[in-house]
Amino acid sequence: MSAAVKEVKRVTTHVIRNMKSGKEKISMLTAYDYSMARILDEAGIDILLVGDSASNVMAGHETTLPITLEQMIYHAQSVIRAVKRSLVVVDLPFGSYQGNPMKALDSAIRIMKESGAHSVKLEGGEEILESVARILSAGIPVMGHLGLTPQSIYKFGTYTVRAKEEDEANKLKKDARLLDEAGCYAIVLEKIPAKLGMEVSRLINTPTIGIGAGPHTDGQVLVTHDMLGITKDFNPRFLRRYVNLYDTIKEAVRQYSRDVKDGDFPNEKEQY
Ligand code: KIV
Repeated sequence: MSAAVKEVKRVTTHVIRNMKSGKEKISMLTAYDYSMARILDEAGIDILLVGDSASNVMAGHETTLPITLEQMIYHAQSVIRAVKRSLVVVDLPFGSYQGNPMKALDSAIRIMKESGAHSVKLEGGEEILESVARILSAGIPVMGHLGLTPQSIYKFGTYTVRAKEEDEANKLKKDARLLDEAGCYAIVLEKIPAKLGMEVSRLINTPTIGIGAGPHTDGQVLVTHDMLGITKDFNPRFLRRYVNLYDTIKEAVRQYSRDVKDGDFPNEKEQY
């Protein structure tokens, strides 16, 4: 290998676990396609989540429920082609694992085999524990997801903060312990009080990755299209928008349209 070729050190589940013990925060963002995944990977994001939020962000559905296993595999394949360093985790979609550990294992194996992804994510605690154990026993790393679990939106009824009451907070802690003992390599904590985010992160050895769970989790995740301001109407308190691409893109497209109509594009240099 020539001296100019720099070897990229890949992020593995082992690296993610060590980040917790070394007190290094974990960065995670969603990715659904090749072009965006390439930018996020080059920018140094530790974990890329091929989230079932693709159902909302890419397909325009109101919930995450309609997206299929085949569609998740398609998104994961596109992301994997771009990635040189980041760890890639793929959501098992609604209906591909609930209530049936063998079906969960089949779905996880399809994702790993057909996309080349590095791990899978499932929503829930005690009720999906058998599925988590089955998938782990096949050598597939699992990320958990507790708190607001959007695949259960029709059970919750709203997207408001979860586990504000003691009963639900205690259940969440118990679920976190079970996923920790089962051997998950990370757990997403979505939209829970910051104090509970801190307690859970201290309670378990598994790294926690928060979204609307306060500053004390071991890492943070956001939906990329939200933090880049490509989506417009989603404005929860936890979201920090780093740029407003919706308006930037719209203005660029308007300018292009004007240039075409005015005969200004293409100019002499932009032709053969
Ligand atoms: O699908 C998704 O984008 C997620 C994040 C909100 C964690 O699960």
